[in-house]
Amino acid sequence: MSDTPRIALVTGASSGIGAATAVLLGRQGARVALGARRVARLEEVAKQVEAEGGRVFAHALDVADPESCAAFCAEAERALGPPNLLVNNAGHNLSARVDQATAEELRRDVEVNLLGAMYMTREVVPGMIARRVGDVIFVGSDAAQRPRTYQGAYGAAKNGLETFARVLEMETEGTGVRSILVRVGPTWSEFGASMPKDRLPAILESWKYWGVLRHLNAMPSEHCARAILRAVEAPVEESYTTVVEVQPGGRSKEFSE
Ligand SMILES: NC(=O)c1ccc[n+]([C@@H]2O[C@H](COP(=O)([O-])OP(=O)(O)OC[C@H]3O[C@@H](n4cnc5c(N)ncnc54)[C@H](OP(=O)(O)O)[C@@H]3O)[C@@H](O)[C@H]2O)c1
Repeated sequence: MSDTPRIALVTGASSGIGAATAVLLGRQGARVALGARRVARLEEVAKQVEAEGGRVFAHALDVADPESCAAFCAEAERALGPPNLLVNNAGHNLSARVDQATAEELRRDVEVNLLGAMYMTREVVPGMIARRVGDVIFVGSDAAQRPRTYQGAYGAAKNGLETFARVLEMETEGTGVRSILVRVGPTWSEFGASMPKDRLPAILESWKYWGVLRHLNAMPSEHCARAILRAVEAPVEESYTTVVEVQPGGRSKEFSE
């Protein structure tokens, strides 16, 4: 892998963790395909990737639509070559209690967070197996292990994502293809902005009640991006870390002693 250039597809590359991952890949001299719905925002990220030394391709992508996934992967391969890294990062968070959510809202959380990663993965994995090289990253959430109220569909989707990542890991063992789950904790990005402001006090109160909100610390998106890239650093001939959980902490944590 070290002699081969990184050719990466990053979903949800228009902001937050996806954008930060794309910029770091650019710094490594990678070829990076950026996908998301907000194309104008992708163009801004594309300039940053190029400024860092990467080669870039930006294209509209709705991961909830299998045809959009197929078109994105085909166009990206034409522009940059066959991918050896897929970062399944696109995510969506409804933040509604089950009794408040519409069927359409519940469907959307599952489509974007779970089915989207499945559609993208099935597009790239056959080629990766044939070439006997490729890494598939799944950006999960600690909400899969520690479910939160108001995030039933989101937590269920991220839980499903963990199962899917593990199954891919088993199904591709020995092929040169690796499946890695990067389970993310609270992160500064645009993710919280989609939470309904009027429900926010009730949501935070409920999370405290259920013991799933220890503090309001969050980490920069760049920290998650670095964790993603560290996870694929191990040579493919070696054993690799299949699950990583990233939490805010280290020096940013306040100690009383
Ligand atoms: N921030 C946190 O605290 C946190 C915690 C745990 C896990 N995560 C996970 O981290 C990942 C990245 O989130 P983030 O924190 O960086 O939030 P963000 O800044 O809101 O980024 C989400 C990205 O997903 C894209 N996206 C949403 N729906 C999409 C669709 N249908 N098709 C393609 N792209 C779509 C958005 O782009 P467009 O709107 O332009 O399509 C955006 O680029 C998500 O999977 C999230 O679940 C975040």
